Amino acid sequence: MSHRIPFNKPGLAGNESRYLAEAIARGHLSGDGEFTRKCSAFFEQELGLQKALLTTSCTHALEMAALLLKLQPGDEVILPSFTFVSTANAFVLRGARPVFIDIRPDTLNLDEQQLERLLSPRTRAIVPVHYAGVGCEMDVILDIAKRHDIAVVEDNAHGLFGKFRGKYLGTLGCLAAHSFHETKNFTCGEGGALFINDARYAERAEIIREKGTNRTQFFRGQVDKYTWVDLGSSYLPSELLAAFLYAQLEAREQIQSQRRRIWEYYRQHLAQWAEQHDVRLPFVPEPCEHPFHMFYLLAPSLEFRQALIAHLKAREILSVFHYLPLHLSAMGKRFGGKPGDCPVSERVSDRLLRLPFYNDLSGADQARVVEAIQEFHG
Ligand SMILES: Cc1ncc(COP(=O)(O)O)c(C=O)c1O
Repeated sequence: MSHRIPFNKPGLAGNESRYLAEAIARGHLSGDGEFTRKCSAFFEQELGLQKALLTTSCTHALEMAALLLKLQPGDEVILPSFTFVSTANAFVLRGARPVFIDIRPDTLNLDEQQLERLLSPRTRAIVPVHYAGVGCEMDVILDIAKRHDIAVVEDNAHGLFGKFRGKYLGTLGCLAAHSFHETKNFTCGEGGALFINDARYAERAEIIREKGTNRTQFFRGQVDKYTWVDLGSSYLPSELLAAFLYAQLEAREQIQSQRRRIWEYYRQHLAQWAEQHDVRLPFVPEPCEHPFHMFYLLAPSLEFRQALIAHLKAREILSVFHYLPLHLSAMGKRFGGKPGDCPVSERVSDRLLRLPFYNDLSGADQARVVEAIQEFHG
């Protein structure tokens, strides 16, 4: 029997152990040390950002965004139903009500044509999720948000280094949340970052991240003692995580070129089979450059998808489905969600299948995945 091909395997870029040893030797293990500064500076320089704050997860970066926007019970936040729970939970924790928007059948991103219809006097934020790192139609989203004075928080968990009309994803909304969970292109196990693109949020963001204290100002010598000044929590990661992450960020070119090779191999070698079996491959519209985060197939039916997962599993290849629509979850139903509210999300959720995709996926293993798929005829 051939070896098992997992869906994901966190890869090492090379310098992780060395930087971890350096952080330990330096004797500063809590947050905001040398490696945290290096990671923030990397994002600020590479992406031309105002400010990047490392966080303990994308979930926490989203929670910080909800605190920064001072959301109150009864405020509404428009977000796709086809996303991870944290996109909603972060705002619901503040008492906000999630308003679920359906996705476009081509990119699986929120359908910007439905935004105006969902606006209300209580709408405070729109949260576009750049699914698979393919940018949402940000021109339309930002225009609507500006006209109605609504904040745009990008959930860019998948899209670091992706671009929309030449601009980096994560630099377009006033705030943007990122993930370094082990399934992402760049990882430290669990981690994240909040990008701040509107200077009005910079000072409070530091405070919220430091348990509601002005400790960051104290460390910079701007105040002579630190104290409780606002709401907050513990959102800053340890230096050990930052050291690990920096080793990955430094290898940006190498990691992205490995992932490009994997993505393009799947597309090239599955195109014909997909056409013959009425399966759709990922679509990347002209204004978007994507960061090769994932490769998915959209099967013609739930039965086809389930049979393909089983067919691959029998060959020791792990493929997985993705989000269950939030409006039909137990929590989503409490907010009034019911079948038929977001029909595209419901259909896509039943039919989507993600293929093994990780930095070290070897050419031989990937060829095995492709051959196994080509043997499947529904
Ligand atoms: C769109 C989206 N947002 C947020 C998250 C949460 O990320 P984290 O695990 O870093 O909190 C995920 C997780 O994969 C995600 O897919």
